[in-house]
Amino acid sequence: MEYQTIALSREGPVAVLTLNRPEALNAMNSAMARDLTQALESLSKDDSVRCLVITGSGKGFCAGADIREMAGMSSTEVARAGSLLSIWETVGKYPKPIVAALSGFALGGGLELAMCCDIILAAQGTKLGQPEINIGIIPGGGGTQRLTRAVGRYKAMEMILTGSSITADEAASAGLVSRVVPAGQHLQEAMKIAQTIASKAPIAVRLAKQAVSSAEEGTLPDGLKHEKQLFLLLFSTKDKEEGMKAFLEKRPPVFTGE
Ligand code: HXC
Repeated sequence: MEYQTIALSREGPVAVLTLNRPEALNAMNSAMARDLTQALESLSKDDSVRCLVITGSGKGFCAGADIREMAGMSSTEVARAGSLLSIWETVGKYPKPIVAALSGFALGGGLELAMCCDIILAAQGTKLGQPEINIGIIPGGGGTQRLTRAVGRYKAMEMILTGSSITADEAASAGLVSRVVPAGQHLQEAMKIAQTIASKAPIAVRLAKQAVSSAEEGTLPDGLKHEKQLFLLLFSTKDKEEGMKAFLEKRPPVFTGE
């Protein structure tokens, strides 16, 4: 299958998908979203492919969704845009491990694409951010949710509300990338990781990905509800009676586990 906007290559059990619109810093347009969707579909059916690497050609990974294409679109048109709107979900649900190899820019939908992957390597010099606010929109490919889960509310709010980008080192210390590698070595390092993963037991690898992913699946409302139930449950314990009584009597509590 020939693709216009991406390049697909193989190194044994590892498939490499390269975003290939370097003239637009690999901005995601409808054609690229369609190409990626088709490529992922065929790779998911191919048992000889054990792990994917996604990277970008030219100056960077991906500078987001294509602003030129989106500029003239109404909300109804965007909502009906098919793979342009669903590509992030498609990547996020892909069953085999994906390593994102970043360089240059990972902005907006580009960062969101990276966050749909399982391991993120960033070359020194990569700028990561959610600049959508600068163009009067907000992230729509999962950025408000995945970035918040990755870096926490306050860092995510700063990035999303100001539109400022952060460096690869800042991203690594915030937990947004797995590792920073020397400039120019992101693909090489990603391939090493991908080949290591590809050498492991395939079913265990799939289930490991599922299990780790499920750690993130609960929503905040679910979490708060669960917390409240547990909190109320504790009001029926003797240790709660003892703990509060001891506090009021200014003495250490004696807990019995009842
Ligand atoms: C379309 C883009 C683009 C984009 C860059 N280009 N980003 N085209 N969509 N997102 C094009 C430029 O227009 C230019 O084309 C060429 O790529 C090189 O870009 P320059 O701006 O000349 O490069 P530079 O000065 O190095 O600046 C790089 C940059 C800047 C900082 C990354 O290009 C930039 O700010 N891009 C926009 C980033 C952004 O706002 N992303 C979020 C998009 S919204 P010409 O033809 O002029 O040479 C989004 C929403 C996702 O992602 C929603 C998902 C549902």
